[in-house]
Amino acid sequence: MLVKPITPCRFYQDVCPLDRGRRCPYKSFMKLLAIDTSCDDSCVAILETDTFHLLADVVHSHIKAMAAYGGVVPELASRQHLKALPLALDEALTQASLTLNQIDYIVVTHRPGLIGALLVGVSYAKSLAYALGKPLSVLNHLEAHLLSPFLARTQNQNPPPLPWIALVVSGGHTELFRVEENLTHHWLGGTLDDAAGEAFDKIGKLLGLPYPAGPVIDKWVREEATREDRTRFKIPRPQTSEFSFSFSGLKTHVRQIAQRPDFQATDTLALIASAQEAILGSLVKKLRDTKALYPHHHTVVTGGVACNCRLRELLPEAYFPAPRHCTDNAAMVAALGALHHERGTLAPAPLNCSALSR
Ligand code: KG4
Ligand code: ZN
Repeated sequence: MLVKPITPCRFYQDVCPLDRGRRCPYKSFMKLLAIDTSCDDSCVAILETDTFHLLADVVHSHIKAMAAYGGVVPELASRQHLKALPLALDEALTQASLTLNQIDYIVVTHRPGLIGALLVGVSYAKSLAYALGKPLSVLNHLEAHLLSPFLARTQNQNPPPLPWIALVVSGGHTELFRVEENLTHHWLGGTLDDAAGEAFDKIGKLLGLPYPAGPVIDKWVREEATREDRTRFKIPRPQTSEFSFSFSGLKTHVRQIAQRPDFQATDTLALIASAQEAILGSLVKKLRDTKALYPHHHTVVTGGVACNCRLRELLPEAYFPAPRHCTDNAAMVAALGALHHERGTLAPAPLNCSALSR
């Protein structure tokens, strides 16, 4: 039997010259179109199943529109998706040199996220599936973040060996999972209040930084803060039960320090550096405590906050996907679709499927 290599076949024609003239096994690959509109990025990707050949990967961010408000305005995100999603789809088809008719399967995230934003993506995907007569599957955005290390296959590399202890840490989530060899996952715990990314954004906002503050804080601290700055302000680490996180008290503490009469504008960098250290320290401690309970599991960190350079430095033992695949993207959704396809669990949805915020 011909073993399919991960790299695409250079012949790629109806009759396979490698398999003694039989039908080319690569012809069974599907071109999977993935759509994600769960928050404030309109994302479209096209991936070939089996080879994990990423043909297109487009993200139209709404950051400029949201910057004036200092955060995501859900209604505005929905309206932005209406404008940006068709443009992102055109761009993806151009990147992949494909027409819509050459798409074999459509996948879209239907939960969790902003309900109005999800509705735009789900309705758009349903219309495409109906008009093209192609099957549609709905997928979970959080599961796509969780299994995003499988995008390593798009670079002809392997994801870290399973099982994993995986932390999904983004603007909307701070959730800890155990992922088993067969890719089933068990939720261990999560934040009791704000997500870690939300804490970065809220602390940044109260100290006058632009939205989203996470990447701004990361860069500013990396380039200008000293080692002493990181510990200059004592910010208590939240004490939560086993697998839970909490960041709202930490944020309030930062606000109280910034409101002290003796607080100077020149102290802002040190306060931000100390706050970042407290947020990341809490993530690292929980991950290490969990890892001690599951010593044979690999540690994986995904989601927007996984872009953070200091977090990567603090967790040299952990696997982090490429930064562009940590923040919201549709490539991870396509990869999740391809994984389900590989396991025979890619179930087509009826066209009356709906979006769910949780
Ligand atoms: O995964 P993502 O794009 O969207 C959600 O699903 O939430 O994550 C966005 C979040 C924002 O809160 C942003 O501030 C944070 O990830 N973020 C970062 C960094 N890059 C993005 N936080 C800390 N350091 C970064 N470099
Ligand atoms: Zn996300």
